[in-house]
Amino acid sequence: MPVLTRRPVYLLLSGCLFAASFAIAAEPSVVTVGTAHSALTLTVAADGRLYELGYGRATAAVAAPRRPPAREDEFHPPAGNGYLLEPALQAVHADGNTSTELAYLSHETAADPRDANVVVTRIKLKDPAYPFFATLCFRAYQAEDVIEQWAEISHDEPAPVVLSRFASSAPVVKADSYWLTQFQGNYMREAGLVEERLAPGLKVLDSKLGVRAQQMRNPSFLLALDGPAREETGEVFGGTLAWSGSFQFAFDLDWDNRLRALCGINPFGEEYRLARGKTFTTPAMLWTWSAAGKGQVSRNFHRWARRYGIRDGDKPRPVLLNNWEATHMDFDEKKIVALFDGAKDLGVDLFLLDDGWFGNNHPRDTDRAGLGEWQVNKKKLPHGLSYLADEAAKRGIKFGIWLEPEMTNPASDLFVAHPDWVIRQPKRELQFGRNQLILDLTRPEAKEFTWKVIDDTFAPNPGIAYVKWDCNRYVTQPGSPYLPPDEQQHLLIDYQWALYDVMHRMAEKYPAIMAMVCAGGSGRVDYGALKYFHSFWPSDNTDPLQRIYIQWGFGHFFPAETIAAHVTDMGHRPVKFACDVALTGAFGVDRDVAKMTAEEKQTITASIALYKNSLRDLIAQGDLYRLESPYEGKRAALDYVAPDRSRAVLFVYQLGEAAFGPVKPRGLDPAKRYRVRELNLPAGARSRLALDNQVVDGATLMAGGLASPLRRAVESAVIEFIAEP
Ligand code: GLA
Repeated sequence: MPVLTRRPVYLLLSGCLFAASFAIAAEPSVVTVGTAHSALTLTVAADGRLYELGYGRATAAVAAPRRPPAREDEFHPPAGNGYLLEPALQAVHADGNTSTELAYLSHETAADPRDANVVVTRIKLKDPAYPFFATLCFRAYQAEDVIEQWAEISHDEPAPVVLSRFASSAPVVKADSYWLTQFQGNYMREAGLVEERLAPGLKVLDSKLGVRAQQMRNPSFLLALDGPAREETGEVFGGTLAWSGSFQFAFDLDWDNRLRALCGINPFGEEYRLARGKTFTTPAMLWTWSAAGKGQVSRNFHRWARRYGIRDGDKPRPVLLNNWEATHMDFDEKKIVALFDGAKDLGVDLFLLDDGWFGNNHPRDTDRAGLGEWQVNKKKLPHGLSYLADEAAKRGIKFGIWLEPEMTNPASDLFVAHPDWVIRQPKRELQFGRNQLILDLTRPEAKEFTWKVIDDTFAPNPGIAYVKWDCNRYVTQPGSPYLPPDEQQHLLIDYQWALYDVMHRMAEKYPAIMAMVCAGGSGRVDYGALKYFHSFWPSDNTDPLQRIYIQWGFGHFFPAETIAAHVTDMGHRPVKFACDVALTGAFGVDRDVAKMTAEEKQTITASIALYKNSLRDLIAQGDLYRLESPYEGKRAALDYVAPDRSRAVLFVYQLGEAAFGPVKPRGLDPAKRYRVRELNLPAGARSRLALDNQVVDGATLMAGGLASPLRRAVESAVIEFIAEP
């Protein structure tokens, strides 16, 4: 239902076009994009432009200012006609004009007819001098305090318009100081927190990798106002871009201490010639605002993700046994079936067969061959995939498979037949990453081939219940033998949308097959991809000590049930410690059961039973409180609290040798009385927790804490709180 009636008209004065307004109201109107606790307020000023009045706490009715706003407060500012800072949009028009002007045309705000929790706003802007349009689109998720924003750009000019900036969202934030936290690293050390105070000028966080683009940095950040981000107090914004390709966040702090956060596809090397009548849609930027620290930012995103951002947010994730670290590509049917027996003994739900099962002319025995040749390797698996799925079913477990469908090795039938189906450039020697090349999904045949890899694997093997979709290299030579010379820079954008099409098709045709997104670890962890998946593989580093940091990082934006966490022997840590770390994610095991000691097997079996029978739902659906950061001391602790606060579970990990005070849970109901119990104790061991099996009220527990039962490095404890009836 449109609520704003004011419509500017464009008058021809002294040979120039000016935006003017025929609105009778003396006050410019205010447009509010609001959630339960936050609001983004905008106004249309007398010059016809859209300006931001503020983003943050929702306050009672905001009045439009009487004085004209500063040009630096323009919302979604375009480049070239008087705006001096980083623009949200930059275009060269068909006649060569390098400037764009955006004036308000109309807007609509209405509840989503399918979901009363979502308010949709669309604000249509137009260049007064050109048939060039930008529609700013919002979905405001009321209960979760999340605002999603994207832009749709189109034109009716006689020739293509060249877009060189296309932010999804670029709000202005105002405070005394700004503290930015990024989540960066590299293969095996992903999602590390780095926080800094922003200084005047431009701070850019980005990725230029195109595909598997998030390997060195996740497209998410925290922005704390007036001091470093704290867990439970202070104003903090969280931002995360739903895009798996190259991204750019540009934080522009101006001379008046005003900060604009420009978020979107990385414009570097991605200039886009937009044809007449076509629409350029940016990916969505997701924002949340909290006045209760970054803990609330995480809880907002987690609640949003379960309801809107991931597949089957309310379904339990299966406990997996994966064979990658146990066998790598060196296996055969007998070995795999033997692993099923072990899987059954442990009590896992599903066996996931990893890389190495395909390729005949170029068998996938090493990472030098086979990608692109997706027929079952007859030597290793003579009876095919359905035989394996049946053998697994006989033991009461489900069966899943690894795929890397958009890649090819030069040693494969595919590449031999179609050397021009890959991303490559003329006159340059081919560069490889893990000996492989990326299929150019802008080419329809290559895109269809990618879909067929999936369809031809799933359709004849109805026993397949799970897929791990991997992606093991990034782009170093962005070029497409398919696209015309003047559209070469479309490659990385069009590739991404084509990839999402294939992922979408998979989710639509095979809704019962659960899916994990992997990209050599976390190269594809974002809400653009996660829409089509149930979980992600955060890192090939499965040393539980390192995983505490990695899972800590991702947990800021992604809920526990999406974070695959497997027990392995990496780092040779105590198996209980490895299990206690894996219990805070989508639990799995990546070990050969036959090679485990009796104690290891017993501990893993008990952890799986505890997870499946008691903790899985609480961790998946509960609210996360980060209690002690591994970055700040030699201990880490976190808890998950059921939405009705009837139950909670706390995990504490000793990272090094040091004496410690009590660990204090958060999120409990102060008035409720909880029975405290230590869980997952080694067989026969007695708890060292002083409060074990005692009943204590939430207020006392949260204020005084529990004396830690831990004594040494790499010890851990799992402590449960159950409210007394
Ligand atoms: C990547 C993944 C691993 C494994 C291998 C298989 O490295 O991150 O988990 O699947 O590929 O080649």
